[in-house]
Amino acid sequence: MSGKQLTREIGRSGVRASAVGLGTWAIGGWMWGGTDEAESIAAIQASLDAGVTLIDTAPAYGLGRSEEIVGKALAGRRDRAVIATKCGLVWHSQKGRHFFDQDGKPVHRYLGPDAIIHEVEQSLRRLRTDHIDLYITHWQDATTPIDETVRVLEELKAAGKIRAIGASNVDQSELQRYIETGSLDAIQERFSMIDREIETGLLPLTVSSGVSTLSYSSLALGLLSGTVGPDRIFAGDDQRTNNPRFSVANREKAKDFSDAIRSVAARHDASIAQVVIAWTLAQPGITFALCGARNATQALDNARAGTLRLSVDDLKAIDEALSAKLAHMDG
Ligand SMILES: NC(=O)c1ccc[n+]([C@@H]2O[C@H](COP(=O)([O-])OP(=O)(O)OC[C@H]3O[C@@H](n4cnc5c(N)ncnc54)[C@H](OP(=O)(O)O)[C@@H]3O)[C@@H](O)[C@H]2O)c1
Repeated sequence: MSGKQLTREIGRSGVRASAVGLGTWAIGGWMWGGTDEAESIAAIQASLDAGVTLIDTAPAYGLGRSEEIVGKALAGRRDRAVIATKCGLVWHSQKGRHFFDQDGKPVHRYLGPDAIIHEVEQSLRRLRTDHIDLYITHWQDATTPIDETVRVLEELKAAGKIRAIGASNVDQSELQRYIETGSLDAIQERFSMIDREIETGLLPLTVSSGVSTLSYSSLALGLLSGTVGPDRIFAGDDQRTNNPRFSVANREKAKDFSDAIRSVAARHDASIAQVVIAWTLAQPGITFALCGARNATQALDNARAGTLRLSVDDLKAIDEALSAKLAHMDG
């Protein structure tokens, strides 16, 4: 490992952040079988200490819980972090369209200016900060024109409450519209070795327009971490319980893949997760790789991926293993 944490700029915002980002969905507990606050705080602080500055959260992760834990963990350390959080999944209003229920509360997809103005203040309070570095529309809202949403985000930027503008879970035409506003710095989309749909649709557009892409679920919800064996049992509301992605057959394929890239990992004194994350960051158009971590050990493991530089031969060997072992997955 070279030792220096890879950093990149978020679009043309002038905001620089570590290319490996800590994702805090699991830290909110919801859909991940609960959360442990002390371990979560340790994960966030260990990430910062290892040079991971990008911390991604969202109000929807535990209805404010993840943001609150991030705020607590960053108290006294705020200047060392680049905080990305989101808007557009609301439970204070029933405007827009119903998306899901969480803790018995209906959550709606709504990106109207009135909601964003409300939401940003709630996030600033929970995060214990006066600014958000990257503010992202979480899921798109068919009831509000994108221009209207972007206008209010531009106003928040002019007021110094946010520093960069992002959009998540966009289709090609939504992305095109965001790009046309001239204000989009980043998108956040599902991308991993086994989820590569954006390579043909979205990435050519972001690359040609200077927009950054943050991959989410970069470890395929942990399936590619090299640690989910056939015996692993998921607890409580963990979304992986009945997910065909986590079939025994897939777990065996993931293990065969880990075995096939073990020599690359050994060459760099790296873990399987680190090789997977470094591969992700080497893909054209992927600027940042968000990786969830529940404790300091996982956080440090993932952070070290930002210091790992894979050679052309390494990437070729990984791609060969990928085609041989992971080409046909369930789910
Ligand atoms: N914009 C969106 O709609 C959206 C959607 C999804 C995610 N995201 C963001 O992207 C972030 C990352 O994605 P994700 O959390 O969904 O999935 P992920 O990063 O693919 O997987 C995270 C999970 O993998 C396991 N893991 C992580 N590092 C590990 C390591 N080094 N060794 C062993 N196991 C490890 C942990 O779960 P276990 O220990 O329980 O196995 C962890 O919770 C999220 O946290 C969130 O911030 C955004």
